[in-house]
Amino acid sequence: MRTLREYEAVARERLDPVHYDYFAGGAGDEVTLRANEEALARLALVPRVLRGGARRELGVTLLGTAASMPVLVAPTAFHRLAAPDGERATVRAVAAADTIMIVSMASTVAVEAIAAEAPGAKLWFQLYIQPDLGFTEAIVRRAEAAGCGALVVTVDSPALGRRERDDRNGFHDLPDGLYCENLRFGDSPGHVRQIAMSPEISWDHVAWLRDVTDLPVVLKGVLHPEDARLAADAGVAGLMVSNHGGRQLDTVPATIDVLPDVVAAAGGLPVLMDGGIRRGTDVLKAIALGASAVAIGRPVVWGLAAEGEQGVKGVLERVRDEVDHALVQCGCASVRDLDRTFVR
Ligand code: FNR
Repeated sequence: MRTLREYEAVARERLDPVHYDYFAGGAGDEVTLRANEEALARLALVPRVLRGGARRELGVTLLGTAASMPVLVAPTAFHRLAAPDGERATVRAVAAADTIMIVSMASTVAVEAIAAEAPGAKLWFQLYIQPDLGFTEAIVRRAEAAGCGALVVTVDSPALGRRERDDRNGFHDLPDGLYCENLRFGDSPGHVRQIAMSPEISWDHVAWLRDVTDLPVVLKGVLHPEDARLAADAGVAGLMVSNHGGRQLDTVPATIDVLPDVVAAAGGLPVLMDGGIRRGTDVLKAIALGASAVAIGRPVVWGLAAEGEQGVKGVLERVRDEVDHALVQCGCASVRDLDRTFVR
């Protein structure tokens, strides 16, 4: 497999079609799902020439966590549907690539076990704030104790998106034996709670969370510039422009199309972006338009389903190589050399 899209083709052959649909699908007519990739493809890179420099530096430091490249692993649920050891395989590959894994709250391996699998792995934890604040706090304490360096609070999910492929396939629950292990408090299956996606969650909850933890808080799923302003006022540490890979509200804009407005409104906060990143050139476009780094969701799952740990390593090394190659072709020694003039 030489490209991220080739990993998807192999993953599709290996996966149960119902699980493939769960990973690949989006909400509604999948307009936003398609738009993420299409909007990136519509943008052109405008390289600079004759700038000298033989080496590139790909590393970035985000909220105190150093990563060897500006490509993070977005939180995706249920890795054990893609490979038997699930998130354990993912974290070994991410640690080898020296980038950041944002562990999904809906992981099928507990955050403590993920951390133990690859000591030194750089983990952040994705959180859906639960209406039960005591329960939310207990999960936060587990993420802290496991060594996670930031909390990525997903705010685009006041209700679960309408994923019609899953409805058609009747896929609504994990198969027997797999659980959302971060929601297990106790030993029997009955001690695993369900994730609540609640429209009650508000800025007051963000203020509460900042009181409860010293970890930097990143809000994931911000698309409206006014929310970026409110987030800056709320004292969060960063933002992630995301439409959940087109899985929540269909027909919201492609993330790359709203990124510049969110960056302008964010008052200097670091802004990450995900959605449709499939090539090194996509990474450069997002960074040129103001992202501090990007994250990839599905490509990691495709790597995992295709070849387990090796597959995730392959995906991360291919995207790294493509970023490096695109930088050299753009006359840049580092992602810091990119700005808006490189994109039209
Ligand atoms: C997700 N995403 C997601 N986000 C989140 O905050 N918590 C989660 O548990 C999940 N789970 C999840 C499962 C699957 C199968 C997918 C595809 C996505 C959204 C994810 O973090 C990210 O925003 C998108 O996947 C980015 O888009 P691409 O890279 O998949 O195009």
